[in-house]
Amino acid sequence: MSIWRKKPISAFEAEMKKGGLNRVLTRWGLTSLGIGAIIGGGIFTLTGIAAHDFAGPALAISFVIAGVGCMFASLCYAEFASVLPVEGSAYSYAYGTVGELFAWFIGWNLILEYMMGATTVAVAWSGYFEKLLHLFNIHFPIWIMNDPITAASKAAQLGIDAPSFSFNLPAIIITWIVTSILVKGIKEAASTNNIIVIIKVAVVLFVIIAGAFYVNVQNWHPFIPTEVETIKDGIVTKSFGWDGVVTAATIVFFAYIGFDAVSTQAGEAINPKKDVPFAIITSLIICTILYILVSLVLTGMVPFSQLDVKAPVASAFEGVGVTWAVFLIVIAATAGLTSVMLVMMLGQTRIFLGMAKDGLLPKSMFGTLHPTFKTPYKSTILVGLIISVVAAFTPINKISEMCSMGTLLAFAMVCLAVMILRYKEPQLERPYKTPFLPVVGVLGIGFNVFLMSKVRHETWVAFLVWGSLGILVYFLYSRKNSNLHK
Ligand code: ALA
Repeated sequence: MSIWRKKPISAFEAEMKKGGLNRVLTRWGLTSLGIGAIIGGGIFTLTGIAAHDFAGPALAISFVIAGVGCMFASLCYAEFASVLPVEGSAYSYAYGTVGELFAWFIGWNLILEYMMGATTVAVAWSGYFEKLLHLFNIHFPIWIMNDPITAASKAAQLGIDAPSFSFNLPAIIITWIVTSILVKGIKEAASTNNIIVIIKVAVVLFVIIAGAFYVNVQNWHPFIPTEVETIKDGIVTKSFGWDGVVTAATIVFFAYIGFDAVSTQAGEAINPKKDVPFAIITSLIICTILYILVSLVLTGMVPFSQLDVKAPVASAFEGVGVTWAVFLIVIAATAGLTSVMLVMMLGQTRIFLGMAKDGLLPKSMFGTLHPTFKTPYKSTILVGLIISVVAAFTPINKISEMCSMGTLLAFAMVCLAVMILRYKEPQLERPYKTPFLPVVGVLGIGFNVFLMSKVRHETWVAFLVWGSLGILVYFLYSRKNSNLHK
């Protein structure tokens, strides 16, 4: 009954041979899934607050810091994906190397990453959708478009009474649309995703190229504005200067989450051992370059203090008088956020599938595939249900911080696990090897733990509660039902 018992690598190999899911994804299809999961609320929404409140024109440096850190984690992910191309992602890697409890705990944190990531994006989608409706002069009451806390603060801004009941209806609707696409199947999901990725990347390129013509280099001076300290309710907040740049990096970290989602699709890849590592690294590199260019253009187009915190990309174009571009950007963002949800929810159900196969979660709920669609339809519907309820009633910042926290810990654990595997099983065939391993792994752990230390106290409390719950479930259910126990 050891908590350190490991799933033998041969068991993974047998599972890979057996399959079950349809193998339809190519190398660029996987890369497209990665980009689909990465470009979203981070670049379209969070850049606003990061530049406006914390980094100023140095937002580009914040993106470099967050990007370099993610690069370390991605190199470690890639090696694992080449050794164990199975659908459970980091969870499976840890199960094959470190042991059951460690693996369970990674899986538990990946729930924060994927499920809370999709929930964050559902709320961001609702914000852009509302903007889109406004462009067509359609207005709905605030109680139907917002969670209770956001509705109350909007009501206060408008000088009206807070509604007695409110919920985020658009977030519920988009969640169920995505859920139904996923129940029907990976092939449909992948082709829907490809179309959206093309639109999304085209608009990001448009922002970079068209925006470059409006850059006024004066707006970049000073590149790192002088540090300002504000104290509110006894809490000190540092804006600008290097402290501000690092805080902005913790915010825009969310923009990179998703490259690892590629690894959850290994079970559906045609040639997973080579293509999954390729897609993880390529999608991250492409997005890092795009992000740095977008942030330089945005802060060059208008003084950073004029960037809107809710729709910064659109506001930069409004600021230079190119209002028609606002339509384009809002439409692309609405579509683009949908594809992030698609990949995140897909990833979540595949991780559950991996855990159910191992007996750590009930098979009847998480491990049954639909007879015709071959998708884990029951867990897809359950995930849709949870996301829609949380998105309907919770403000975006609370969800996104929990998501980042879970992701940072999972990344750090992957960096650790890849080093353990190299040491313990040096003879394994590794189609892709992480370069400069101890250095890259240690830097990956250091970077992710450092960013965790910068997250708010309140989030830490919620995170510890979630973690304790996970340990409880393990000892009450998973440990006894594990295949390794039976
Ligand atoms: N990276 C994803 C986004 O920015 C989660 O929406």
